Amino acid sequence: MTTGIILAAGKGTRMGTDTPKQFLSYRNRPLVCASLHVFQESPEIDAIVLVTSEEYVSYCRTEIVERYAFSKVKKVVAGGKERYDSVWNALGACPDADYVLIHDAARPFVTEEIIRRAAEAAKRYGAAAVGMPSKDTVKIADSEGFAESTPQRSRVWTIQTPQAFSRPLLVSANELLMRREQMYDVTDDAMIVEASGLAKVKLVEGSYENVKITTPEDLKRLS
Ligand code: CTP
Ligand code: MG
Repeated sequence: MTTGIILAAGKGTRMGTDTPKQFLSYRNRPLVCASLHVFQESPEIDAIVLVTSEEYVSYCRTEIVERYAFSKVKKVVAGGKERYDSVWNALGACPDADYVLIHDAARPFVTEEIIRRAAEAAKRYGAAAVGMPSKDTVKIADSEGFAESTPQRSRVWTIQTPQAFSRPLLVSANELLMRREQMYDVTDDAMIVEASGLAKVKLVEGSYENVKITTPEDLKRLS
């Protein structure tokens, strides 16, 4: 049993629109429908959990899941303050899942092929993240904004979603993280597994088109 977790509980602070970016109109539907559609159509996916903020739960149930007949969506649950809180709530809503594929609602250009690659790698390695080799050289800056080091470009990947995991593995990794006193900036799920030391996260190819809609400039991609 493989469950897709679609994360749509963010506030979209960097986008700055009144309507959170995952509900902005794209092809005459709220943006989140694009990801839901690909997950609905994917043969890898048996069920979907949609995570949104408390005030959008009933809107998502009636105006998205029912209206557009996303029959694989078994639950719409409220997310939390941080992305990992939203993921944690979703994990609690799919106790029967063997594998979970976690995907940002703000990445509308995901494809069935990308989902397949992520799911296959998770089944083989336990943990996988989709990404692409970086075209740019990446530098690590010090706190004053000076270049501190330059990782070898051929080994730098920029990371996307979906990120796919054995559910028991991801639950254990989250439990270990929650026991830590100091929480650092957790920006994806793979980091949680890496920090746990429980498994190595396999990097698999997504696509350069599978971008995240983050700032107003990215809205151009939706037209
Ligand atoms: N997300 C979530 N729960 C949170 C934070 C984020 O479900 N507490 C989701 C967002 O809805 C988005 C995805 O995680 O689909 C990626 O997050 P990001 O692009 O950072 O979206 P926001 O957090 O909404 O935007 P910002 O950081 O600019 O406020
Ligand atoms: Mg955010």
